[in-house]
Amino acid sequence: MISEKLQKARDYEEKYSAFITDEERPLFHLTPRIGWTNDPNGFSYYKGECHLFYQYHPYSLQWGPMHWGHAVSKDFLHWKYLPAALAPDEDYDKGGCFSGSALELPDGRQLVMYTGVRQFLCPDGSHQVIQNQCLALGDGLNYEKLPGNPVLDVKDLPKGFSVADFRDPKMMPSPEGGYDCVIGNRTDDTSGAVLLFHSEDGFTWRFVTILDRCHNEYGKMWECPDFFALGDRDILMVSPQDMSALGMEFHNGNSTMFLIGHYDRGTHKFLRETVQAVDYGLDFYAPQTMELPDGRRIMIAWMQNWDTCGGQPSEAKWFGQMTFPRELSFREGRVLQLPVREIQGFYGHKVVYSNIPVREEVTLRGVYGRTIDMTVTLKPLSNPYKQFRIKVASGSQHYTSISYCTESSTLRLSRSHSGLNRDFVHERECFVRDRGGEIKLRILLDRFSVEVFANDGEQAMSAVIYTPLTADGISFEAQGKVLMSLEKYEICLGGTLEE
Ligand code: FRU
Repeated sequence: MISEKLQKARDYEEKYSAFITDEERPLFHLTPRIGWTNDPNGFSYYKGECHLFYQYHPYSLQWGPMHWGHAVSKDFLHWKYLPAALAPDEDYDKGGCFSGSALELPDGRQLVMYTGVRQFLCPDGSHQVIQNQCLALGDGLNYEKLPGNPVLDVKDLPKGFSVADFRDPKMMPSPEGGYDCVIGNRTDDTSGAVLLFHSEDGFTWRFVTILDRCHNEYGKMWECPDFFALGDRDILMVSPQDMSALGMEFHNGNSTMFLIGHYDRGTHKFLRETVQAVDYGLDFYAPQTMELPDGRRIMIAWMQNWDTCGGQPSEAKWFGQMTFPRELSFREGRVLQLPVREIQGFYGHKVVYSNIPVREEVTLRGVYGRTIDMTVTLKPLSNPYKQFRIKVASGSQHYTSISYCTESSTLRLSRSHSGLNRDFVHERECFVRDRGGEIKLRILLDRFSVEVFANDGEQAMSAVIYTPLTADGISFEAQGKVLMSLEKYEICLGGTLEE
């Protein structure tokens, strides 16, 4: 049964998304069908396609009562919009259908778990929030909320854990059979934690363990957890709120981190070894992963930052976009990420340059564009260079720069001149491995974003830009002299986002 609220959202999105042209959206990054999106939800493989749901407020460009939008893709570049999947239409989720996940059951049905939010005004004037976990079953198009909702609530929480901050369930098949689920929480020491639950059938869940908690070391509430094996490690991925900057590794505000370690399934203890930021750029939050049938672990995130949401252009018809999906791997103690290899199937015109000396600012024939995948490799000469800078989305007034400083081994992404006219953070830096001035930078440009991958994905930096599309220049310059090689492909979809 489709509720009145869900039908209203479906009618609205169908009618008004028709007014957004393909050119007003990114070429190969997913945006909401209409209105606002934040976190990716239910990122999963189901019946031969990748399903992506998303936090969705169709009626405005601001966050509002959360629905779930829905899209599918066979190749991660073409996305087909499906009708909105969930609306906040029950007593237990009146305050919103918050983030969650999806998986396929053995009988072929798709199971969705999300956080149902309720809010009350108490007699003393205070405001109370209750967050519970709820289930819905579907066929890839329509979803029915279960009569037994919520399936996890305050009675399932260990002592000292909060029911006001109990959200974002991520389910996954358990290696021992049945399913595991990690859920974010905030403990009575006011800081973040992740709780692990288990179910034999996906419907009845029980608390297993506190997988990890930060005792006020890494931010406050830990949102949007995910938990998966990668190489010989177990990775717990979280999005902490109210983080304090830590060197160049973590920035203030909403941050993201990999907690890398080993999980002992006998004792249910997660032994954390190291922590690593997920993305070092300006716009990246609430990542979620899925496993493809071929074993690849793919991650997608909201390419936005809660503190920079006010930067939307006045003529915008949608707000919020997803990163391009990334393949994760584990090497030498780090989680690496690179754009999914499917992108190679959409490579158009190719331009190659080998070992050209670069000093003062140069442009190169054939090297321009706003929808490209470009890899630049630098080789130092005997007299080392100090700095190297690439300007992309460059025009008479605008550019976004990616610069590498050999002395400090830092990579800097700056969109100060990208055309965003709000006074929030526009630059960020991170360390890259010192390889004596050698560096490989892969840059994925779409109409409204830039994603940079250093040294085969050891670091990634993402940022939204709203530079006029006529600014499609690219230039290179070095302080000192360096040899540069380059390979650039135009991305050609041969067809655009389907309605
Ligand atoms: C993260 C988040 C989640 C929550 C959702 C609400 O960005 O705050 O914790 O479920 O957004 O839209």
